[in-house]
Formats: sequence, structure tokens, C-alpha cells
Amino acid sequence: MTDLTVARTRADLAVARGDGAVSFVPTMGALHDGHVQLLKHARPLGDTLVASIFVNPTQFGPGEDLDEYPRTFDADLERSDEAGVDVVFAPTVETMYPTGTDTTVFVDPGPLGSVLEGAVRPGHFRGVLTVVAKLFGLVRPDVAVFGEKDYQQLVLIRQMTQALCLDVDVQGCPTVREADGLAMSSRNAYLSPVEREHASVLYRALRAGAASAPDGPEAVLAAAHRVVDGVPVDLDYLTLTNPDLGEPAPGQEARLLIAARVGKPRLLDNVGLTMGSG
Ligand code: PAJ
Repeated sequence: MTDLTVARTRADLAVARGDGAVSFVPTMGALHDGHVQLLKHARPLGDTLVASIFVNPTQFGPGEDLDEYPRTFDADLERSDEAGVDVVFAPTVETMYPTGTDTTVFVDPGPLGSVLEGAVRPGHFRGVLTVVAKLFGLVRPDVAVFGEKDYQQLVLIRQMTQALCLDVDVQGCPTVREADGLAMSSRNAYLSPVEREHASVLYRALRAGAASAPDGPEAVLAAAHRVVDGVPVDLDYLTLTNPDLGEPAPGQEARLLIAARVGKPRLLDNVGLTMGSG
């Protein structure tokens, strides 16, 4: 290891962050190449690069995988060090939620918090935005970097940052994929070998949809559905939106989003495309 500092408390973090410009990558650990890309993108954006590793209980619903969520702290420190991280902030639940996870003040995500992922996981984005706001308060970053892989999360964090005047430059990074196109995710580790094969259908469907973009929204959705049909995955949604998750418009940039349960894990993916007029 080189000069990586692990900060466990608010006081440690306050010392370690220093007084220069800070770039910040929040994570829940179990770091893979997707996270590493965010770290590499963030590295030159500040004097000090802070990564947080915190499995945030308030964004998991009852019966979700909070207890089983993969925890690989030693390997995470090594990957962080290699990617040029200066400070890993790894707080306890008590540090992040001193008054408990039920009795705290929460950030209300507004209407976009209860569609798509929010419809399937009630309260999820309330937990995400609350912890990100707390982390912004503690880390006080100039720039924070998030993945397009969790597109709705990125849009909501941008909205929150603007609405609450948080004065953080929120930047998005493209999705990092496996060789067959599957978006990297800590939850891919839960897939059995046969589920792993089925899982690549998500990106194949998005690609097929994107290839039909010149023909308009209906053609995009039909082409994507044709690819998913017949593959044993449990589709939650396959939706075309504008980049802010509103209605798509002809001739404009759009986003095609998919979520499906493949065995136990729910997987998400999305791509950007430019709509034709149909
Ligand atoms: P986590 O799932 O650990 O993801 C941390 C960051 O890595 C997020 O910004 C996510 O979009 C990004 N990411 C994950 N897989 C990626 C991939 N294949 N390519 C590019 N980026 C990828 O998202 C969370 O944690 C949490 O909700 C958090 C924001 C930390 C709040 O608790």
C-alpha cells in the first residue's frame, strides 16, 4: 500500500480530506471495474480523492439483501489504492445515523422517486438521497462521480443537488460491461452459471432497441421486447424516456431502461439513444 488513509470517524475524515479541492466517489464496496472507472475519472478532478464504502441500511427494503450484500473490505482497499484514492471513508451505521435509522430526517425524492426502481423498491431513493446528502455534508466534495448504470439514481442525485443548493458538481460515467455486454454489478456474484448466461439478454435487448431508434419509440420498444421474449428472465420494466426520465420526444435524446429479476438478483441496465421521428 502507498499513502491510502482509512477514515472511520467524522473526525478522521475531517483531518484526512485536507483543504484542497476534493473529488468524491460514494460506493457500497465490493468494488469492481465499474467502480474503478469512476475512481479513475474522479482522480484528476481534485487534489484529494475520497471514496466512501458504506452499505447504507436505509436504501434496502424489508426482505432485500442488506445482510447478504457482499463485503470485501481488504480487496476494496487494494483496488482503491491502485486507482489513486487518497482517503477511504468507511463509517459505521452509528456514525452515519447517530439518532438511529428510523428517527432521522430524510430527503424526499419527489415524484421521480416512486417510478421505475422506486415503484419496485418503495423508499429506496429516500434512503439513497439521504445518505448521499449526509456524505456530501461530511466529505464536502467539489465534484462527485456516479455511474450511468444506475441512471435513475444519477438523475435524482442531480435533482437533489440542485434543489438543496448543495454546490457539488455531479458527474456521470458510462457503464462498464463484461465481455458479453452484461453491466458490471456487485449483485452479478449471486447469479448461477445458467442465470449468468440469461443475464446478457438485458444488454442485447437494449442494443436491439437502440438500433431501431431511427424508426421511433414504438419500434424501439418492439425490437427490445422481441429479444427478451422467450428468455427466462422476469421483466420488471422496459421503458423509453427522455434523459430526465420524462416523456421521450421525436428527434431528441432518449434513454431506454430495463430491469429484470434473473433468478434471485434484480439487474438493471440502460442506454442512451437519439430518437427518429418514426
Ligand atoms: P454502488 O452500487 O456500490 O455503486 C457505486 C457507484 O458505482 C454508483 O454511482 C454506481 O452507479 C456505479 N456503478 C456500479 N456499477 C457500475 C458499472 N458497471 N459501470 C459504471 N458505474 C457503475 O450506487 C450505490 O452504490 C449506492 O446507492 C450509493 C450511491 C453509494 C449510496 O449508498
